[in-house]
Amino acid sequence: MPRVPNSELTATNAIFPVNGLPRRVLNFAGCNYLGLAHEPRVHAAAIRGMGRYGLTTTASRETTGNTDAHTGLERELAEFLGMDSAILTTEGYTANMALCEALGQSHKVALIDEKSHRSVGHAAEASGMRVMRYRHRDAAHAAELARTAAREVGADGVVILTDGVFTADGVIAPLRELVKALPGAGSVLVVDDCHGFCVLGQSGRGTCDHLGVRDPRIVITTTLGKGLGCYGGVIAGAKEVIDRVQQGARIYRGTTPCPPPLIEAAREAVRVLIERPQLSKKLLEQAAYLRKGLTRCGVKLNDAPTPILAFVLDSETQMDEVSAGLLQRGVFAPVIEYPGGPAQRYFRITLTAEHTREHLDQLIEGFATLLDAKTLVAA
Ligand SMILES: Cc1ncc(COP(=O)(O)O)c(C=O)c1O
Repeated sequence: MPRVPNSELTATNAIFPVNGLPRRVLNFAGCNYLGLAHEPRVHAAAIRGMGRYGLTTTASRETTGNTDAHTGLERELAEFLGMDSAILTTEGYTANMALCEALGQSHKVALIDEKSHRSVGHAAEASGMRVMRYRHRDAAHAAELARTAAREVGADGVVILTDGVFTADGVIAPLRELVKALPGAGSVLVVDDCHGFCVLGQSGRGTCDHLGVRDPRIVITTTLGKGLGCYGGVIAGAKEVIDRVQQGARIYRGTTPCPPPLIEAAREAVRVLIERPQLSKKLLEQAAYLRKGLTRCGVKLNDAPTPILAFVLDSETQMDEVSAGLLQRGVFAPVIEYPGGPAQRYFRITLTAEHTREHLDQLIEGFATLLDAKTLVAA
C-alpha cells in the first residue's frame, strides 16, 4: 500500500504518485461511505459555520468555548440515534477514551472483543478497569466472562465493549446476544459504531438499528469523520451516563472542542442522511454487487453486507501483483497491514455510495483479468 500523500481526493478518485508521477486513480480506500466529505451542502454549512464562529472556539466548552452548533448537534444526534442524550468529543478515538474514563469511576471490569478497534482497548486500559478479552464475536464467551466478573465485582460493575462493524473486515457484532450477556441493570454495552453509523440501518442509524437491538444499557460511540464526512466524535446513551462523561471525563473537559465549522458541517450531513435514506441503501446494494462480482472471480469473502471487503488471495506475492496490476489500470485497491483482518496483510476494499456500477465493473474486470478468472462480468 503506498504510504504516500494524496495530492487530491474526491469521493471516488485520488491523486498520488505512481512510478514517481502523480496519477489519478479510482479510489477503493478510505471511509467516505456516502461521499459526504465532498457533498456541496455540507461544504456550504462549514463555510457558514466559519463565518459565524471563526475557525475554532479557542477554549474548552466548560469555560467559554461552548456554541449553539455543538449543543444543536448533540440534540440532533441523540434524536437521530434514538438515544436519551449525546455528547460530542474531539474525535471518535476520544469518544471511547472519555466514555471509559467516566465508566471506570463506577465499573470495575471491561470485557472486550479481541478484535475491537485499538481505541476501545486503549480506552478501557487507561480507565483503570480490569480488561479481559473475549473471543471475536463470541457472545457466549462474553457471557461466561461476565458471569465470573459479576461474582467478583457485582453485576453492575461490568462493561462489555465491541465494535458494531469491525474496522478491519466489516463483519457485524452479535449485539442482541451481547445485550443478553450483560449481567446487571447497571452494566453497560459500549458499541463503537464508527463503521456502522451512516452505513447500516434506516438512513444510516447504525448497527443497533440494523439489528433491531434497543436497550437502555447500550451506549454508542462513533466518529463524525468517516460516513458523515466531517470530523469529531460522539457518545450517545442514557442521560445519566452522558452526564457522567460531561462531569467526570478529563479528556472531554480539558480540551478545545471540535471546530464549529465542522460541527455545522456535521449537522448538515445528518440532515442529508435523513432526507436521503437511499444513500445508505445504494451503498449496501453496491457492496452486494461488488461481492457477487469478486466471488465470480474466485475471491473468497466473508458474508457481511457492509462496504468493507477484506480478503486474501493465495499468497502475499499474488496480492501485491494484483494490487500493482490494478494500479497500472488506474484502480487503487490496497493491500494493507492492519490488526484484526483475515491475515497479517490483506486486501481491504471500501466503497462509497458515489461509486457507479461502471467503477465497480472496472474493479471486477481488473480482478478477473489479473486472476485469470474465466468469467464475464454480468450486467
Ligand atoms: C472502530 C473505530 N473506532 C474509533 C476510530 C477513531 O475515530 P476517529 O478517527 O474519529 O478518531 C476509528 C477510526 O479511525 C475506528 O475505525
